[in-house]
Amino acid sequence: MQVLVTGGAGYIGSHTLVCLLDQGYEVVVYDNLINASAEALSRVEKLTGKTIDFVQGDVRDTDSLDDLFATRSIDMVIHFAALKAVGESAQCPLEYYQNNVHGSLCLLEAMAKAGVNNFVYSSSATVYGEANPSPYVETMNLGSPSSPYGAGKVMVERILLDKARANPNFRAVSLRYFNPIGAHPSGDIGEDPTGIPNNLLPFITQVAVGKRDKLSVFGGEYSTSDGTCVRDYLHVMDLAEGHVAAIDWLATQPSFRGVEAFNLGTGNGISVLEIIASFEAATTLKIAYQIVEPRAGDLPAFWANAEKASNVMNWRAKRSLDEMMEDAWRWQSKNPNGYS
Ligand code: NAD
Ligand code: UFG
Repeated sequence: MQVLVTGGAGYIGSHTLVCLLDQGYEVVVYDNLINASAEALSRVEKLTGKTIDFVQGDVRDTDSLDDLFATRSIDMVIHFAALKAVGESAQCPLEYYQNNVHGSLCLLEAMAKAGVNNFVYSSSATVYGEANPSPYVETMNLGSPSSPYGAGKVMVERILLDKARANPNFRAVSLRYFNPIGAHPSGDIGEDPTGIPNNLLPFITQVAVGKRDKLSVFGGEYSTSDGTCVRDYLHVMDLAEGHVAAIDWLATQPSFRGVEAFNLGTGNGISVLEIIASFEAATTLKIAYQIVEPRAGDLPAFWANAEKASNVMNWRAKRSLDEMMEDAWRWQSKNPNGYS
């Protein structure tokens, strides 16, 4: 079975490629490398001993997509390609809607032309918005996320529902990720943010490796156990396996039609201070930090109810917080400058 992976050179995409290739799937990667390096793909090839069919292109380039589908026998699509900085999306909303929503439309149109009906979408916990209490369950109404990034994820989920209503052959899975961290246990692939990291773990590992002086903890007076924000962190390899579970589920449910959403998280809420303590315990390094003002747009606490993914797709996050920290550190210490 041939799987098209858009955004496959990125953080979650590259880890998912390892799992897909290990399971015997053939992959075609389509990525414009706006936030990734082709080196990630070379490393996946070395890790798996398999070759990757890579096409550099943009999901908004409809001619290039038509050519891609015409020259291959693609059965399923996993759509990672997107811009992903929540804060940045408020500064340049049009760029985010253009890339993430218009890009998804172009891809869905190209799939329709080529008669490809199986779609796995990278959605996010941000779709639940602030009105829903945790743990988030898939049956909840989607909220109105404060950022254009989150709003774009809600829009694409809605587009998938409408598309499925109009096309009785269409089959989609929306995977709502919580907070992926960590890296492949080899330390050869991992998260390689450009510039100053927005996300917590890459910032911590860059402090640990000496690239940043100290971590700013955004907010210390939230109504959580220690005053800092709580999230549901999961190992990126567990998340990667969630995509294989989704592909396998679609492949083994030939009569399924429509859209099914799944939370991919652990079900555990962890605070920022607990993450720092856990990183220090796993690596015996000290992380300098100071508590500063809250970051605009952050919700105090959210975590997943991940029962549906377990009951329906037989997927469960298995790796411990210690493994997340050890693997994140192995990647950062082996590759202080990422892929460059
Ligand atoms: P990433 O930036 O590492 O990967 C995204 C990839 O898409 C990159 O390789 C980039 O070059 C590519 N890309 C971007 N725009 C493109 C375009 N127009 N055409 C072709 N390629 C394009 O990000 P990631 O963390 O791996 O995230 C993957 C997906 O998961 C995204 O859709 C993101 O919104 C979603 N997601 C991520 C998180 C997270 O915490 N990392 C959480 C929830 C959802
Ligand atoms: N944080 C800090 N200091 C930092 C960075 C983050 O204290 O330098 C805190 C944040 O305030 C938050 C927590 O660490 O409380 C996690 O922040 P991240 O930026 O790592 O992650 P977010 O929860 O803001 O968002 C991430 C992804 C989104 C995705 C969401 C889903 O960036 O794309 O998880 O849960 F949608």
